[in-house]
Amino acid sequence: MIFRNPKDILAFYISRYLMDGDTAVDATAGNGADTAALLRAVGNGKVYAFDIQQKAIEAARRAVNNDCRAKFILDSHAEMDKYVPAGIRCAVFNLGYLPGGDHSIATKAGAVIEAIGKACSLLGDSGFIAVTMYRGGDSGYEEFEAVSRYLSSLDHRKWNVLRFDYFNRPNDPPVLAVVERKIAN
Ligand SMILES: C[S@@+](CC[C@H](N)C(=O)[O-])C[C@H]1O[C@@H](n2cnc3c(N)ncnc32)[C@H](O)[C@@H]1O
Repeated sequence: MIFRNPKDILAFYISRYLMDGDTAVDATAGNGADTAALLRAVGNGKVYAFDIQQKAIEAARRAVNNDCRAKFILDSHAEMDKYVPAGIRCAVFNLGYLPGGDHSIATKAGAVIEAIGKACSLLGDSGFIAVTMYRGGDSGYEEFEAVSRYLSSLDHRKWNVLRFDYFNRPNDPPVLAVVERKIAN
């Protein structure tokens, strides 16, 4: 398998971890591509998909043909503990702005960090959190640096935190971080 981009690496993780009946979280539903990928993997399970934009929730709902296994929530991912039961298999974050939407409405480091912390608490014994981060361009570097600092601070005895980056790709390519639980609850 060739990892052409973070999406390919995420697809690998989804295929490795997710099983029929699992619960997954799409923390940034956007146009619904990640929600659809998660739904394909959870079988009879459920996907909780968050976005702060009504436009995104509608687009994501359309992308999955109103699939009743997807629960769309118009709220910040930082509030996920109010909606999502413990024991999730994964939470997927794709930072930045809605493709084709308003670039000024984008994820913010503070809410992302709070949400990753909550996803860590909700994660079952075997699960992962994936965060696709952008830098440069409209995204700038602030969010990338703040989220990277937070991920680096997670206790290495409890969490494997991996960073997937390309050494030889120009123009600050996106970076995928994956957090895996090392020890059971
Ligand atoms: C890069 S897009 C996500 C792309 C999406 N995963 C897809 O497959 O199309 C980022 C999304 O995060 C959303 N967002 C920004 N802040 C958020 C927050 N606090 N909680 C949930 N979603 C947020 C934006 O509205 C935008 O739709």
